[in-house]
Amino acid sequence: MKRFFIATLLLAGGSAHASTPEQRGFQVFRQICSSCHSLNYVTYSDLTGLGVSVPDIKSYASQHQVPDGLDEDGDPKTRPAHPSDHIGSPYPSESMARMANHGGLPPDFSRLALTQEGGPQRIIHILKSYTAPPAGTKLPLGAFYNTAMPHLHIAMPQPLHDGQVKYADGTTATIPQMANDVTAFLNWTARPHLKARHQTGIFVLAYLAGLAVLLGILKRRVWKRLKSPE
Ligand code: HEC
Repeated sequence: MKRFFIATLLLAGGSAHASTPEQRGFQVFRQICSSCHSLNYVTYSDLTGLGVSVPDIKSYASQHQVPDGLDEDGDPKTRPAHPSDHIGSPYPSESMARMANHGGLPPDFSRLALTQEGGPQRIIHILKSYTAPPAGTKLPLGAFYNTAMPHLHIAMPQPLHDGQVKYADGTTATIPQMANDVTAFLNWTARPHLKARHQTGIFVLAYLAGLAVLLGILKRRVWKRLKSPE
């Protein structure tokens, strides 16, 4: 009986596999933001750093086309992306991106968490600040009311809506939840090697501390011998 309970618990735990905010944020990026925004400095295989499996990365990459020289008639060719390719823009050029967004240009996400004025908190704030405009508000063509913006409008249509993604780990996808998660992901893309750097830092500090202790012992031994002239 006891064994049965443990087995059930293990099964339940396995199906509701908990994800990190960064992993959930990647899901938001993949399903929503990537239809307009690029990650020009991040490769598909960089996502292994987030715990995305290699088969997943291969299938994700293969769903995207990248430029591949010219065909016999001189027309541009494309091929499915490889894991080593960058997660490029969904638009073939900047002018096409602007055309699709009423003149606005969706910024590249690679370093946005570092370059955005106000940082990650500001990104979360913008994502949560879409509301219906007060009666009588006149918005420029292709602009959307957003109370976080200085002029109260932005060229990005509201990207997040409650329940828009179905999180693999069962987390309820509210707007604030998705805003926090996708921003955690943007923070990770801006500093993909941060964790590795912290780990290296801790290793180096521990090594230096160990060395200091050994040198201390050595110094005492040497001086002891010098001070006692037998
Ligand atoms: C339909 C296309 C589209 C989608 C989908 C989209 N964006 Fe945008 N985004 C834009 C455009 C266009 C701009 C430029 C806005 C401007 O210049 O006013 C922008 C700008 C931004 C900015 C910069 C805001 C600023 O300070 O000017 C952030 C941050 C951002 N998007 C985050 C996101 C996130 C996160 C998602 C996914 C949850 C997302 N976007 C989905 C089109 C989109």
